[in-house]
Parts: sequence; structure tokens; C-alpha cells
Amino acid sequence: MKIGIISDIHANWEALEAADKILFDVQQVWCLGDIVGYGADPRLCLEYIRQRCQIKLKGNHDQAVADLRNIDFFNPVAKQAVLWTRNQLSADDCRFLAQLPSSLSVTTEDRSLPVVWLVHGSLRSPLEEYILDAATAQATQTLLAQQAQEVHFPKDAPVLLFFGHSHLAEVYIFNDKGKKLQHLSVTTEQRLTLEGGWYYLVNVGSVGQPRDGVPLGSCAILDTDQWTIQIIRFGYPIAVAAQKILQAGLPAELAYRLFYGW
Ligand SMILES: [Fe+2]
Repeated sequence: MKIGIISDIHANWEALEAADKILFDVQQVWCLGDIVGYGADPRLCLEYIRQRCQIKLKGNHDQAVADLRNIDFFNPVAKQAVLWTRNQLSADDCRFLAQLPSSLSVTTEDRSLPVVWLVHGSLRSPLEEYILDAATAQATQTLLAQQAQEVHFPKDAPVLLFFGHSHLAEVYIFNDKGKKLQHLSVTTEQRLTLEGGWYYLVNVGSVGQPRDGVPLGSCAILDTDQWTIQIIRFGYPIAVAAQKILQAGLPAELAYRLFYGW
């Protein structure tokens, strides 16, 4: 089975459409949160995610838009975007966002992989913590190993955690002893063949607001038959998405940053 995994769409419809074309032949799509916030098309993006995705997680922006609590933790630009977005959404949209889980462990339908862990931020703090360095990745691997033990995870299967939140497409790989083997930043494309017993912490990057200096969207495909993960960076009509942000009266820097991937 092929599964598309997306995160941090941030109401960028043009980028989401481009991701949809890439994921044309997957059987399922899983979304790791931050559907809305920053971009000009929250309703379109939310509707797409509701229809297309079999699994939907909540991100910190989805949470903020849904309940408007704790938004003082956001910087002024993000806060302005949260308030603007809230005005675009219906009460039902907000209820939908509020009830989404922030982390999940799931079994693939055909059981070709026993369990896959999914979270927006990190296992320690699903909505808040960023996995940005080796130390946080190591702490996450330790938690992942504990959770794998609790579900009697088979030793000959790769242990997978997919996450987002930082908007950086990257992979941390650990062996079965918890030793970090590799850290890959994905700026063009990356295909990994999974090894049994190894741990893969995969940040699928951001569909709608990349922040690694590369103005390309990002998404991943997990193939549970081939045991591969592919991370794909893709172009989309940035000027259209940026123009919409300006026309909506959202902060101009939210439009300009898309051209720089920052
Ligand atoms: Fe985000």
C-alpha cells in the first residue's frame, strides 16, 4: 500500500493542489496538522483535508484557530493570521479542528507494517516541541523505543515516526541500539529503503510554507510493500498564493517569505 503523508499546509491551496497531483496514485493520505494559519485559503484546504485524508492530526495553529486560547504565545504576525483565519471558518470548521487528535499510532490496513507513529511536533509534546537537533531526536527515539516495546513491536520491522511542525524536510535514522546513524536534510528528493529494526524519524516537511531556504513544497510517500519512504519537493505557483495573501489583507511578509522558502 502507498500512503501519502503531508503536514503544515497552512492554507496554501496552490501548494496543496500541487501535492495532490504528486499523490495521485496513493491509497491513503495522512495529514500531520497545521492545515490552516498563514495562508489565504483555509476553507478550501480544510475541505480538501476532510474529504481526502483518512488520518488527520491537529497542529498548534489548528488548535489556536479552534479555541483562540493561548494565542499570546504566537508572534504578532502569526497571531494576526490566527484571528483572520478564525473569521473565515464556520463554527463547524472550528469544532472539527478542535476534536482532531494531536498524535496517533496506527496500523496500516494491510498490516504490512505493524504500527506507525504520527505526531505534529514531538512525542514529548505533540503540539509544541520542535525536533530541530540531534539531542531532541535522540530523546524522541528513546520514547519511540519504549512505545515499540509496549506494543511488542517485532524486531524485524522498521520503527517509523512521521512528524512536521518545524517545516524542515529531514530524516534521523537510528539503529536498533539507539545509535544515530544519519541525519538527512531533504532539499530536492530522497528515497530511503527501510531496514528492519532501525528507527526512522521522518519530518515530511511543509506543503505550504517551507522554511529551509528552498521555496518548494514537500510531501512524503510511504510504500508499505516495498518498505520505502520517498520525500518529494515540488514547485507550485507561488505568485498566485502570495497575491491572495496580500489581497486578503494578511501581513505582507507571509506572502514574501514563500518566494524564499523562509
Ligand atoms: Fe506549521
